[in-house]
Amino acid sequence: MAIGIDLISFYTPPFFFSLDDLAKQRGVPAEKYSTGIGQKEMSMLPPDEDVVTMGANAALQILEKTERNRIKALIFATESGIDQSKSAGVFVHKLLDLPKDCRIIETKQACYSGTFSLRAAMGLVSLEKDSQVLVITSDVARYDLHSAGEATQGCGAVALLVSEQPRLMQIETESAYISEDVMDFWRPNYRQSAIVDGQYSTRVYLHALNECWKKYSELSKRLPEHIHQLCFHLPFTRMAEKALKQLFRCKEEFQSRLSKIAPGLLYNETIGNSYTASLYLNLCSLLDFNEDNLEGQRVGLFSYGSGFVAEFFSGIILKGYNKHLLKEQHTRLLANRKRLNYQEYLDFYHFALPQDGTSFHTPYFTDGYFRFAGLDAHKRLYEKAQKEA
Ligand code: CAA
Repeated sequence: MAIGIDLISFYTPPFFFSLDDLAKQRGVPAEKYSTGIGQKEMSMLPPDEDVVTMGANAALQILEKTERNRIKALIFATESGIDQSKSAGVFVHKLLDLPKDCRIIETKQACYSGTFSLRAAMGLVSLEKDSQVLVITSDVARYDLHSAGEATQGCGAVALLVSEQPRLMQIETESAYISEDVMDFWRPNYRQSAIVDGQYSTRVYLHALNECWKKYSELSKRLPEHIHQLCFHLPFTRMAEKALKQLFRCKEEFQSRLSKIAPGLLYNETIGNSYTASLYLNLCSLLDFNEDNLEGQRVGLFSYGSGFVAEFFSGIILKGYNKHLLKEQHTRLLANRKRLNYQEYLDFYHFALPQDGTSFHTPYFTDGYFRFAGLDAHKRLYEKAQKEA
């Protein structure tokens, strides 16, 4: 049975902060960010958005192209949860008017949980004829101001519709995964920003990649030339170059892989890290921008979630995939973002909600279709914004 990604779509809020501006403020050469870590801009979360609104906005675009009553589960992958008990997906389910006979769950393991959710979705689809599962990956990457991680912030959501006979990509069964208990990146419940040992986390990422690649090759008996394209979890886009260097010791092969991966970096380099969504943003960018037709090509995908769990798997791009992409909407979304000045960046960064149960109405900032309207008696309130989808 062919199961895989039927449709893919992303959303990011309509505000960004330029890394050139950040470099000026932090007194470092702009090239450190543009070349050294490979980032141009970071999307910034306005006060009236969160992982729920980003996820719902991402999924809305693909729901218009499917029958909602086939969706039997919504899996919401995030490490920026808004409640310790209730799944962010329950709010999304209501905002999107999904059918009642739909299960909802939230998954967490740093940036990895989107990949587990995708594989779980495949299992669910295989159990129920004609069913579909909506996987939403949505996150806000946030580090301390003035820390090394600050330049790798960002936010965004990717929605994946998983079904039998998919329109975009069939996911293959072979998959290599490993887990180890390390402290490279984490965020205790009482903190709003992550703690990270940046250099160590990069080394652990590359170690995990190496292990998964070896295991995948053994399992699948495939050679590197059988994998035409590669997508990675991208905390910053220069990570792709480090990953390729790790996998391809031959200079020519490395250079050719580096140029092949370039179209897949375009969304990530302007949005920044989006944790669970990052790998799928890389895939979305590859599908939207690769000049040559990708039909029949095998894509290898590497997922890494600090802490850590990692997985390497692959998929085949299907005939006619390019008729089902949402490139126009994605491009418009990025083109319409507003550039924040430094003070506005700080204001967004420091925005905090009351924690004492008082009613709070969030001022209008976003022009997304859904927005976080405020709090009442500790309950989060969401609404459809006053604009057409
Ligand atoms: N021009 C060009 N390049 C320059 C430069 C200049 N003027 N100045 C410095 N550079 C280069 C450096 O040589 C270096 O290149 P190499 O990596 O090839 O050595 C690069 O820019 C970065 O410089 P530093 O290593 O000095 O950077 P840093 O220590 O200040 O921060 C970072 C880099 C560690 C990635 C930091 O941004 C960070 O901590 N980020 C958050 C953690 C992270 O993203 N970890 C990745 C793996 S963990 C993961 O994947 C999960 C996740 O999503 C968090």
